[in-house]
Amino acid sequence: MADRILVAYASRYGSTAEVAEAIGDELSKAGEQVDVLPVNEIRDPSPYRAAVIGSPIYMGKWLPEARVFVERYQHYLRTIPVACFAVGLTVVGGSAESLRRAEASMDEVRMLINPVEASVFPGKLDTGRLSDPDRAIIKLIRVKSGDFRNLDAVRSWVRAILPNLHRRR
Ligand SMILES: Cc1cc2nc3c(=O)[nH]c(=O)nc-3n(C[C@H](O)[C@H](O)[C@H](O)COP(=O)(O)O)c2cc1C
Repeated sequence: MADRILVAYASRYGSTAEVAEAIGDELSKAGEQVDVLPVNEIRDPSPYRAAVIGSPIYMGKWLPEARVFVERYQHYLRTIPVACFAVGLTVVGGSAESLRRAEASMDEVRMLINPVEASVFPGKLDTGRLSDPDRAIIKLIRVKSGDFRNLDAVRSWVRAILPNLHRRR
């Protein structure tokens, strides 16, 4: 396992899971040994030599399970290169201010583990599939519905950050 990279993610409706799978696939194509896993299924990240960790943004924050994962394993995660990503919709055609707010979803993670990268990707919203509480929230915050993900851009990001995942900390 010592040579493997962990791609850990949280996802409520599956769109971030697909982004994580694309990241894992691109890392594999670059010759890396990769495990793509939901954060809830990871009991011990210490065998991995690097990690990519991502979550969708809900109400300005990463999902709780992703935040708990980073908090729980912060000690180890500070010793390996970690790249983070957030998936959200306010960045779609948004202002510099909405990008700043989306990036702020990773402030806590930045403080805890000082990632080598932290980027925001546009997400997907299918209003037909939402739970009642989420539908009510969406009416209030008025985010756009549709699939705005760009998996080619995500794959380019992976290729660009790969040297940083090889750096020693
Ligand atoms: C209830 C709710 C709240 C959301 N809040 C935000 C938000 O604060 N900022 C943002 O950029 N996107 C927000 N989104 C959009 C999600 O981040 C986006 O749909 C994401 O792709 C969902 O990922 P998932 O399918 O992995 O759960 C919200 C979506 C829902 C349903």
